[in-house]
Amino acid sequence: MPLQLLKLLLLLLLLRCLKAESPQCFHFTWIGPYDNKSNIAKESCDARVGDFNEIPCEMPLVVTPNDTVPDVKALWKNETLNREHYLCQMSPGYSCVKYSYIFKGGIQNITYMCAKVNNSNGCYRETQATGMQVEACVCTSKLGLIPCNSSPTALSRPILGLAMALLSVFIAVK
Ligand SMILES: *[C@@H]1O[C@H](CO)[C@@H](O)[C@H](O)[C@H]1NC(C)=O
Ligand SMILES: *[C@@H]1O[C@H](CO)[C@@H](O)[C@H](O)[C@H]1NC(C)=O
Ligand SMILES: *[C@@H]1O[C@H](CO)[C@@H](O)[C@H](O)[C@H]1NC(C)=O
Ligand SMILES: *[C@@H]1O[C@H](CO)[C@@H](O)[C@H](O)[C@H]1NC(C)=O
Ligand SMILES: *[C@@H]1O[C@H](CO)[C@@H](O)[C@H](O)[C@H]1NC(C)=O
Repeated sequence: MPLQLLKLLLLLLLLRCLKAESPQCFHFTWIGPYDNKSNIAKESCDARVGDFNEIPCEMPLVVTPNDTVPDVKALWKNETLNREHYLCQMSPGYSCVKYSYIFKGGIQNITYMCAKVNNSNGCYRETQATGMQVEACVCTSKLGLIPCNSSPTALSRPILGLAMALLSVFIAVK
């Protein structure tokens, strides 16, 4: 009988733990092609984009061996890596966001984050006067599954209404 009670308690404890957990989003900035990889430890969001502006940047900063876009599926599956380092909790009211800078079809950098955004799920893209395109993809993760902001950058659908999307992302990030 006491053993059964213990089992019941353990089960209850487990259920509580599961309940307390939230879905997750990827959370880091891939800074794009970067020559001196050993210098990355000296980089920071503050140094790269500064404070008080609308350019999203999330620590940790990440570089990739051949300057290819990050393989987030491999990151999610990698058990030797401390992947929590690259994840954030998608708390109630938050969405996952993937924010990419694209120039002439080439992805310059990508910031993955948890943010409070007022826009519904989907990708929003805007071309700036310089020809630089910015794309913000908003989505909702499911508990226990790979974060939803893992999907590849679409590179195709220009959608109006980005200014509003970005504005709300920035408000949430600050
Ligand atoms: C690369 O970065 C390392 C660490 O910051 C530095 O010591 C080294 O001089 C750099 N190499 C070049 C070629 O800039
Ligand atoms: C990403 O690229 C854009 C365009 O080159 C640049 O303005 C921005 O500072 C970059 N973001 C980061 C985090 O380096
Ligand atoms: C990176 O580049 C090297 C040399 O060009 C190549 O052998 C390797 O397959 C590349 N790795 C990836 C992940 O693309
Ligand atoms: C996991 O990450 C470690 C550290 O970055 C790396 O050395 C290893 O190759 C990765 N394993 C897989 C299966 O990608
Ligand atoms: C948020 O979205 C709602 C409904 O679309 C809209 O009425 C409201 O003005 C938006 N708020 C902001 C700050 O954009």
